[in-house]
Amino acid sequence: MNTTALVGAQWGDEGKGKIIDILAEKADYVVRATGGSNAGHTVVNGDKTYKLHLIPSGILYPDTVNIIGNGVVIDPKIVLEEMDSLVALGVKMDKLLIDLRAHVVMPYHKEIDELAEIAKGANAIGTTKRGIGPCYADKCDRIGIRMVDLLQPDVFAEKLKSNLVLKNKIITAVYGGKPLEFDGIYTEYCEYAKRLNKYACDTGTVLYDAIKANKRVIFEGAQGTLLDLDSGTYPFVTSSHPITGGFCAGAGVGPTAIKECLGIAKSYTTRVGAGPFPTELDDEVGNHLLHVGHEFGTTTGRARRCGWLDAVILRLAVRINGLTSLAINKLDTLTGLKKLKIATHYMHDGKPVYGFPADISMLEGCTPVYEEFDGWDEDISACRTFKDLPKAAQKYIEAIERLADCPVSMIGVGADRDQNIYKK
Ligand code: GDP
Ligand code: IMO
Ligand code: MG
Repeated sequence: MNTTALVGAQWGDEGKGKIIDILAEKADYVVRATGGSNAGHTVVNGDKTYKLHLIPSGILYPDTVNIIGNGVVIDPKIVLEEMDSLVALGVKMDKLLIDLRAHVVMPYHKEIDELAEIAKGANAIGTTKRGIGPCYADKCDRIGIRMVDLLQPDVFAEKLKSNLVLKNKIITAVYGGKPLEFDGIYTEYCEYAKRLNKYACDTGTVLYDAIKANKRVIFEGAQGTLLDLDSGTYPFVTSSHPITGGFCAGAGVGPTAIKECLGIAKSYTTRVGAGPFPTELDDEVGNHLLHVGHEFGTTTGRARRCGWLDAVILRLAVRINGLTSLAINKLDTLTGLKKLKIATHYMHDGKPVYGFPADISMLEGCTPVYEEFDGWDEDISACRTFKDLPKAAQKYIEAIERLADCPVSMIGVGADRDQNIYKK
């Protein structure tokens, strides 16, 4: 079997898009299984930069089949805009497939996402306001509209009508917002359906046949382990399961369909949105990471919160995802820092904490305990083997392997698809 799951090992934005694009060169299939247009994956190829939200990052290779699986929530407007902008850049869409069971993000999901965040005030999650939470909530509530419904005008009309009755009550009576009109939404979404029809199919069976035929399949993670609805920093999480276990449900395959599990992490930590972040830095090092690392959100443009690498988080990611190796991106961003730190564990009420706490308020009261390392000044962006790296950089990577208890197989030294080191 020739299948690999690529999963975010932190709070998202670990550089998954870059690694998927690199590995997709040899892939027959790339599959997105979770999340929606909250994701922002950047792929840099020479002088061209592609920002992908719903379309899998294997789309730049004309022979690779790109699947949007049943676990993804699809915003038809955004996916079509993304397709149009890629086509304008010369990218072909003829190998894109969208699952019939995938749920559709509707205008009321986005409206409620926004209104609910405002109503939460100081407790707001800092969502991407893409309607992700409300759409998954409807899926669990069994009132969602799926692609298969959107494609049948009568079924869609009926489901939209009944949903609007309920959603307009929530929008007006609970949040004091303005009701949404059926006619405009129905006409607009029927047009989207006409355009999306040719891509829709039962992608689970396509994938099953591909895996049986020993095709090379990559499962593309969105978000990251710490944003997982169960294992992340609840309630400051997304509303799906962006972990390898979630890929099975979201792609319609069994757990034995995934052979390798590659966790993607940065050489430091970032987070967008609210919630606890033990190793966050509000000093000149944090500033270095923000500006040298260009840490501004791909989807919302927000400045990302930055901090030291946290091995407590990496160990959680190794365990929950069954990682077989790690890819460490953005090692180049650390260049120029005199000293580097990795959190080995936390202290809470005078006691050491080695596992990631379930209790958010406990996590907020945790102080990281750091191991310190020497930095380096040499430009590493042209290094292509592990031995090319300065000794201090090699030691930093080896410390990650020891503290995370997982081998590192890839190291990113720049945003371009070529700027990558394979480590055995
Ligand atoms: P994703 O959501 O996990 O795909 O990550 P994003 O694309 O949101 O954010 C990662 C950012 O880091 C993007 O701007 C990438 O182009 C960039 N990037 C990825 N790997 C590297 C690397 O090794 N070095 C540098 N300097 N930038 C990188
Ligand atoms: P990629 O795939 C980073 C965060 C949001 C917010 C929380 C909930 O690019 O790594 P949501 O809109 O999902 O309800 O927001 O999750 N979030 C991400 N942070 N990268 C992402 O995706 C994210 N997708 C959601 O900032 O804190
Ligand atoms: Mg991103």
